[in-house]
Amino acid sequence: MGSLEALRPGSVVLVGGGPGDAGLMTVAGRAAVEQADVLLVDHLAPAGALEWADPGAEIVCVSKLPRGPFTPQERINELLIAHARAGRRVVRLKGGDGFVFGRGMEELLACSEAGVPVRVIPGVSSSTAVPALAGIPVTHRGLVRGFSVISGHLPPDHPDNTLDYAALAASGTTLVVLMGVANLAAITKALLVHGMDAGTPAAVVVRGGHPDQEVLTAPLHDIARVAGSVRPPAVTVIGEVARWASSVHEEEIH
Ligand SMILES: C[S@@+](CC[C@H](N)C(=O)[O-])C[C@H]1O[C@@H](n2cnc3c(N)ncnc32)[C@H](O)[C@@H]1O
Repeated sequence: MGSLEALRPGSVVLVGGGPGDAGLMTVAGRAAVEQADVLLVDHLAPAGALEWADPGAEIVCVSKLPRGPFTPQERINELLIAHARAGRRVVRLKGGDGFVFGRGMEELLACSEAGVPVRVIPGVSSSTAVPALAGIPVTHRGLVRGFSVISGHLPPDHPDNTLDYAALAASGTTLVVLMGVANLAAITKALLVHGMDAGTPAAVVVRGGHPDQEVLTAPLHDIARVAGSVRPPAVTVIGEVARWASSVHEEEIH
């Protein structure tokens, strides 16, 4: 089964939409959007991609904003199944890659358990793309041999947080923090307490790939203060590679 296979009526396709610029969606993702009868769309999915949808297609917003519109996951699952059972070609359009903090597997399991055919079109995840859009490689030969992508949704000392901050601080990998804006001070404090160098370069990339993209940089000990007024979505990069933040400009590339 190829990623460009035509959408079948009565089926669901989970499409990763990339970090927000429609130009960063995959060819297969675009083809799926073009064929959809109904699209269930997240707030971080690329709004520009909806221009590719058939004018007759139904577009359903199923946002999960912390302080805004909220559609429970169970309701999204129900909608996916109901639209497919009605014989529609259903596209679930999400930001980034649906399998990276995207609850994509929950939707896939819900569809399969309901007997609805479902497939996945991966997307460009903000965890690597947003740093790249700010000139930051998450690895670099001779400098760092790995990267760790973590959720900053819960504070480090929260009882449900299973991340080992001592191990992260000692990992020698670039740390990429998603959903970490509200807890950035607690996250950086935990890394410092566990021995990470206070001078480690850090960068917060806000609304990566959007026309109003912003990049804030500071050493680890000061990044939470410097990025104190930032609003999500943002990706934080901690590690030597963050020293290149915004250092590569379009003019230099072309
Ligand atoms: C629920 S997670 C979804 C991640 C997504 N599945 C992915 O692979 O990119 C949402 C988080 O992704 C990050 N994010 C997504 N798009 C972004 C963008 N354009 N700029 C900055 N951060 C972004 C932010 O950390 C945001 O809080």
